[in-house]
Amino acid sequence: MFEFAGKVAVITGAASGFGRAFAQKGAALGMKLVLADVNPEALRQTVDALRAAGAQALGVPTDVSSAAQVEALAQAALDAFGKVHLLFNNAGVGSGGFVWESSANDWAWVFGVNVMGVAHGVRVFTPIMLAQNEPAHIVNTASVAGLLSPPAMGAYNASKHAVVSLTETLYHDLQLVQGGQASNGLVGCSLLCPAFVPTGIADAERARPADLRNDSRPTRSQIAAGKQLHRAVQAGKLSAADVADITFDAIAARRFYIVTHPGIMATVKLRHEDIEQLRAPTDPMSLKPEVKSVG
Ligand SMILES: NC(=O)c1ccc[n+]([C@@H]2O[C@H](COP(=O)([O-])OP(=O)(O)OC[C@H]3O[C@@H](n4cnc5c(N)ncnc54)[C@H](O)[C@@H]3O)[C@@H](O)[C@H]2O)c1
Repeated sequence: MFEFAGKVAVITGAASGFGRAFAQKGAALGMKLVLADVNPEALRQTVDALRAAGAQALGVPTDVSSAAQVEALAQAALDAFGKVHLLFNNAGVGSGGFVWESSANDWAWVFGVNVMGVAHGVRVFTPIMLAQNEPAHIVNTASVAGLLSPPAMGAYNASKHAVVSLTETLYHDLQLVQGGQASNGLVGCSLLCPAFVPTGIADAERARPADLRNDSRPTRSQIAAGKQLHRAVQAGKLSAADVADITFDAIAARRFYIVTHPGIMATVKLRHEDIEQLRAPTDPMSLKPEVKSVG
């Protein structure tokens, strides 16, 4: 069992959605919190609210796509609390539309945050955790979009598939370095794959830096994908707090795969069967009539 009370958690994308819910859950369990987000004002409000409720919380404005800023985040955490026991590589953004219509800026932004943000977190924090020689855990937020490839969200899907592979590899590498004890040894990891949950994710554009904005107007498929994402996210039955509860239970049990919406597994299985049988991929949205495909 992983013990939370008195331990230090670093959370990226902590000013909204899942990240804020992880912070609230961590505070309720008596953790010390280091919260990172690219939105300094939302981060300040989140930290203030947690402190007002009695939590020990530090806010570190951070763009996770920057190697230097993630290194500075780790240093700030160590300066404040001396150790890091739990890391949530959670910050993420998305952009939709037909895959060939995603701009170079869309790819750079989505991969910079979703993939390089996680890679920087793993690169910087894993050696710190291994050197501490006490229980620690890393949770990388992917998505069901890392297990499936729904249409009209290609850059997001590809980024989340990268997070799935990176995190499965992290698990193997931790097993190797710790003599096969990653599941219950000192440093473990989990892969979080939620389906649609009402958060700010459908308005991710608010976090896009000026130098990666698009000059051209959105295409028809991008507008349709944006509307569909808003609908799907708002229709999500679980809350961010539910996802945080499920995630902390999985960390406590040192479970690797965290699939918050188990109903999706039939579609995951079908994708795996398509690959095994060398069939063309089934459109995962065609199996969910309540979520209409774009196009
Ligand atoms: N909500 C869903 O339906 C859903 C489903 C599956 C996966 N996810 C994933 O969950 C994670 C959290 O998203 P959410 O749903 O809570 O969305 P959210 O928009 O509510 O929160 C994301 C937070 O990340 C921050 N952020 C964006 N770019 C950043 C950067 N470069 N550096 C640091 N922080 C940055 C934003 O400011 C925001 O506070 C993401 O990785 C997302 O892809 C969300």
